[in-house]
Amino acid sequence: MPAITLVGAQWGDEGKGKATDLVGEQVDYVVRYQGGNNAGHTVVIGDQKYALHLLPSGILSPNVVPVIANGVVIDPGVLLEELNGLKERGVDTSHLLISANAHLIMPYHRALDKVSERFLGKGRIGTTGRGIGPTYADKISRQGVRVQDMFDPKILRKKIELALNDKNQLLSKVYNRRGLDAETIIEEYLGYAEELRSYVADTSLVLNKALDEGKTVYLEGSQGTLLDIDHGTYPFVTSSSPTSGGATSGSGIGPTRISKVVGIIKAYTTRVGSGPFPTELLNEEGEWLRTQGGEYGVTTGRDRRCGWFDAPIARYATRVNGVTDFFLTKLDVLTGLDRIPVCVGYDVGGVHHDEIPMTQTEFHHATPVYEYLDGWTEDITGAREFAELPKNAQGYVRTLEEMAGAPISAIGVGPGRDETLQLRPLV
Ligand code: GDP
Ligand code: IMO
Ligand code: MG
Repeated sequence: MPAITLVGAQWGDEGKGKATDLVGEQVDYVVRYQGGNNAGHTVVIGDQKYALHLLPSGILSPNVVPVIANGVVIDPGVLLEELNGLKERGVDTSHLLISANAHLIMPYHRALDKVSERFLGKGRIGTTGRGIGPTYADKISRQGVRVQDMFDPKILRKKIELALNDKNQLLSKVYNRRGLDAETIIEEYLGYAEELRSYVADTSLVLNKALDEGKTVYLEGSQGTLLDIDHGTYPFVTSSSPTSGGATSGSGIGPTRISKVVGIIKAYTTRVGSGPFPTELLNEEGEWLRTQGGEYGVTTGRDRRCGWFDAPIARYATRVNGVTDFFLTKLDVLTGLDRIPVCVGYDVGGVHHDEIPMTQTEFHHATPVYEYLDGWTEDITGAREFAELPKNAQGYVRTLEEMAGAPISAIGVGPGRDETLQLRPLV
């Protein structure tokens, strides 16, 4: 049986938590393959709302094995807090598996994330301040601390002492902050080791064996295509690879085993943090979208920047991820508009672009070219079949599908698990 990847097609917060929860009953493993607790995935089940940051959304489905794979960066304190929060709400978390190869977010990563953002001033990225960038930087420069290191006290000590040699110089001499104490960190992380030991596994081996046995593995992306370190709006991106390529290296599953790539995309666009966003609405229309859509960050509580649907972005996501199906979310949010602008291309200094321009400089100066689609006023939250949508809502979906270049297989008309129209199976 296949592996299926879910990727955010925009700048994150497309509804990945909901989509993952929806397929939870039909899959055996749900795997986070990149990112860390910068993510905020919302799952609404009945009258219960869950905000997950580090744990795969599949943890809420009793028959799913949730996996935090090698590509994720783990803040162990946050992980334990999240596990305890779920346990208190009666969720069984005992099946969780954590890769021994995943990297750990250390206190100096969090400190450096915050202080470097402050020093960037107006040029700041607007990170979540969780230490994501500095942790991935250490991973790439081969100075990272991995989950398995917590179980070898000698190695853990050596790595932390070595890391602090230069991190403390940086913190004190460049950023004018107090350095961190190695002993305190070593003690803290040895404590986490005991609490996490039972979850740690060779997750790549487990997942490949599961696939051999005919099980279904669902790879849940966090963030989104335009926050990808390679394919996003660099440098205003996160430090990992949310795109579908990242799902294979981040989980240790070969690309030939992935049969579907589901792109999740909002019926409009949002972004948190800095960076270009051509269709952003800095007016009462943007405020309307924010209020209607409840567009406030799950992780940092920041207002999300809001704008109209951007078709070149959807096409770009199709292209760089090899999207086979789209899950279109939040269609209900657009109810009540006379006509709905959809960006079909850009004007950059008088030159028309059908696709995302090649350079960041051009993208920064891209003005959207809009086409206007007819809106609808009927409440669509009760619709469960495509035919139950008002004609204009059907038209909106069909036009987006054509522009995005891949079929829309599911449509969200509300945050709840069942507030979904399934046009084709996602699994
Ligand atoms: P994620 O990070 O991709 O998991 O998305 P977030 O949870 O950060 O943000 C998506 C928000 O939209 C959450 O509050 C969801 O409950 C909500 N949501 C998801 N799908 C729909 C939908 O189809 N309609 C509405 N109205 N809300 C939705
Ligand atoms: P989910 O999984 C939206 C953004 C931050 C910032 C940039 C870099 O819920 O979709 P980082 O802390 O990762 O170094 O910040 O990325 N960002 C997100 N925006 N949704 C997310 O996750 C995000 N995770 C990071 O706002 O602009
Ligand atoms: Mg989110």
